[in-house]
Amino acid sequence: MCGIVGYVGFREATDVLLEGLRRLEYRGYDSAGVAVKVNGHLEVIKKAGKLQVLADELKAHPLSGKFGVGHTRWATHGAPTDPNAHPHMTEQGDIAVIHNGIIENYLPLKEGLIARGHIFTSETDSEVLAHLIEEKYQGNLAEAVRMALSEAYGAYALVVAHKDKEEIVVARTVSPLVIGLGGGENFVASDVPALLPYTRKVIFLHDGDMAVITREGVTVSDLAGNPVEREVVTVEWDLEAAEKSGYPHYMLKEIYEQPRVLENTLGGRLHQEEATVELNLKLDPRQYHKVHIVACGTAYYAAWVGKYLIESLARIPVEVEVASEYRYRDPVVDSKTLAIAISQSGETIDTLEGLREAKRKGAGTLGVINAKGSSITREVDDTLYIHAGPEIGVASTKAYMAMLAAMGLVAVWMGRSKGTLKPEVAQEFLGEMRKLPRLVEEGLEARAHIAKIAEKYHQAQDYLFLGRHIQAPTAYEGALKLKEISYIHAEAYPAGEMKHGPIALIDERLPVVVLATESPFYEKTISNIQEVRARGGRVIAVATKGDNEVKRFAQDVIYVPKTHHLLAPVVSVVPLQLLAYETAVFLGRDVDQPRNLAKSVTVE
Ligand code: F6R
Repeated sequence: MCGIVGYVGFREATDVLLEGLRRLEYRGYDSAGVAVKVNGHLEVIKKAGKLQVLADELKAHPLSGKFGVGHTRWATHGAPTDPNAHPHMTEQGDIAVIHNGIIENYLPLKEGLIARGHIFTSETDSEVLAHLIEEKYQGNLAEAVRMALSEAYGAYALVVAHKDKEEIVVARTVSPLVIGLGGGENFVASDVPALLPYTRKVIFLHDGDMAVITREGVTVSDLAGNPVEREVVTVEWDLEAAEKSGYPHYMLKEIYEQPRVLENTLGGRLHQEEATVELNLKLDPRQYHKVHIVACGTAYYAAWVGKYLIESLARIPVEVEVASEYRYRDPVVDSKTLAIAISQSGETIDTLEGLREAKRKGAGTLGVINAKGSSITREVDDTLYIHAGPEIGVASTKAYMAMLAAMGLVAVWMGRSKGTLKPEVAQEFLGEMRKLPRLVEEGLEARAHIAKIAEKYHQAQDYLFLGRHIQAPTAYEGALKLKEISYIHAEAYPAGEMKHGPIALIDERLPVVVLATESPFYEKTISNIQEVRARGGRVIAVATKGDNEVKRFAQDVIYVPKTHHLLAPVVSVVPLQLLAYETAVFLGRDVDQPRNLAKSVTVE
């Protein structure tokens, strides 16, 4: 949610800031701004609109300096306008503040500041921090920030610059910040891709950390000013992995990366002969009688698939809930509960808080996470990294794929450890898992066919997605992808539930995507297809290769490779991702930066 970049060194700051912001634009993209120190003054340019608007403005009015801060915004308080864009400055222009998150007590703080003569130029909560810091400033910027933060509460990743200093003071609570270490230059950003052109050596700040960043070095302390040691981590992601590599969109690149991602997620972890998986986790599944999984959005659908996998293979009861509901409903958790948080970013605040709720009540905790060093990984007992690599497209694809594979591993791990999964069943399942990268590769070949279907139905106002059992979450994920990037309204239902209401929607204008892959429930799903056809609905079936029967009932069929029915979501989500992608392209939508969305949601 919002992207931050700060730089102090020997390069032109605007180049570093713009390049970094470009790499973070997926985090928010309704306005952007920079403040650069030019001849002893902080010069600010900020513009509503995409980053390119700011880049054009900077071309027309270059700011030359070796020290600066920049921001790309996703609005929470105040519309996306020039004044509401960050950085926020004090009246005299001495201090520039960039803030991600929400200052919850900003209204009383603002009233007090106005009463004391401060003039506000934006509607944001963030601006109060600039004025508060100005009030506290007596020559020591870190001290002023510390004092201001003792009065403000909420979530923040805060980056502050003063015209008289060659240092960036940063602080974080909830919203992420990562410091990049160079030689004679140092950086700060809200996510690693902004740093990759310059350094792989990073420090992930923890909640409650502050840091002072100069050309020469970085000192980290807590909010009370006590020094703290933070590990310097070398990130493995390379620059190319965060680039488009010739694809027109990150989303398409990420869809095509999925076979490789599956290899990474599964690599070295499957031991088919021994009927085991090696996850290097300290947790012992034998201690747990039930599992709660919390997640949001696409990760929630992966969690739902995970429920079927764990219950089918390990026979342990699993509850799955969207994290924003879970955290407030006083869930029944004890020390025999294993709470699993699934998240690409590892920063989603609802998921983090859901996890904390389970932890407070005594649960063991496991994170199934993509982003190394992210907040959730620091709070759980154990992390299973999904190894999807950097996901830039706002609509999640390859991270979902990796989450599904990871949940397959978790199910086998639990079942084998508890003895509830027979070795021969595990062997068969692991054998099928091993084939997944190749099957997903094969599935990608259907793209041209799917593009034709997308074109055929691109004028539809609504879509319906249906799936049964472990394919119900696939239907929901397909609908979510279509909504997110094409803006076509799409609903999903478990196929058997259609007759209890949504059937009223069906007419000849409604395309209905039905997950009709081979499974013990295939016949029932075919009956649902017939129910749709009988009411004039247009069926797009996703079916298993070799199923000729389904052609009799569906107008369009997309074939996916045959696999174990519990792994069908892995191969079936690919055509749904491509259908959403091709529809969005056909409609001329902004695939990688769909309206109103942000990649990492660190506000409630
Ligand atoms: C959908 C999407 C979102 C995220 C959700 C959780 O394409 O990307 O629904 O899945 O915001 O994000 P993470 O996985 O980072 O916790």
